[in-house]
Amino acid sequence: MTATTSDTTPLSTAPYPREDARNIARAFLPKHALGNRYDYYYTLTKLRTDPLYPGVLQALRPTTAPVLDLGCGLGLLAHALRADGQALPFTGVDIDAAKIRRGREVVARTGLADVQLDVLDLGVGLPAHHGSVTILDVLQYLSPERQRELLDNVIAMLVPGARLVIRSGLADDTSRSRTSRITDRLANFAGWMQERAKSYPTAVGLRGQLEGAGLQTTLRPLYGDTPFNNWLIVGIRT
Ligand SMILES: C[S@@+](CC[C@H](N)C(=O)[O-])C[C@H]1O[C@@H](n2cnc3c(N)ncnc32)[C@H](O)[C@@H]1O
Repeated sequence: MTATTSDTTPLSTAPYPREDARNIARAFLPKHALGNRYDYYYTLTKLRTDPLYPGVLQALRPTTAPVLDLGCGLGLLAHALRADGQALPFTGVDIDAAKIRRGREVVARTGLADVQLDVLDLGVGLPAHHGSVTILDVLQYLSPERQRELLDNVIAMLVPGARLVIRSGLADDTSRSRTSRITDRLANFAGWMQERAKSYPTAVGLRGQLEGAGLQTTLRPLYGDTPFNNWLIVGIRT
């Protein structure tokens, strides 16, 4: 699979160094020494092992448009943005009300400015928005029809210079793709992920839809040292 070359800067594919990861994850430490540290260790491990956020931050750096993060989980991207010096207004939505509640508590406790987190099922609707949109490791939880419809709707939200930044496992015949599918099934079975993965998009399908809508589009691997088939897809409204 080759990348469409509209962005020639090499993509950052290394996860955070240990200390930087700890500095961001620290926000998720419990208020009390004996409190639950699950979210702290989850975010710390994610930041230390997955190149997701460095790649996404790089994609968003050229724009100051407000960002809507679909399937934001705990709102970790907002913390990564602020640690990177990116002050763009941030709205995150997720179907998991417990994650949103905990994410809001952390935002309030750490005093992150211009950050809003809301409960929303992407299968049902979208908030009004004009700016950039991020969809990170979420598309596979929607049916192929809903993925297409959602992407059409978010493409319409992009203002000039804004970006649609997607990270997704892609369906192909590689062993990476199989590993992504099996791990998602296990995550749901073990209760780590409430939602079940339904369908992975293909590179051809995503590229066709984004380029068909006039976005300058790049697809690049963003799996780092992980065994998954994760790619970063960036569409720029020129
Ligand atoms: C693998 S996590 C990714 C979280 C975050 N985007 C990140 O990259 O750290 C997938 C997220 O998608 C959310 N999600 C799944 N289906 C959804 C839906 N129909 N509407 C909104 N959020 C959904 C899950 O609750 C979960 O927080």
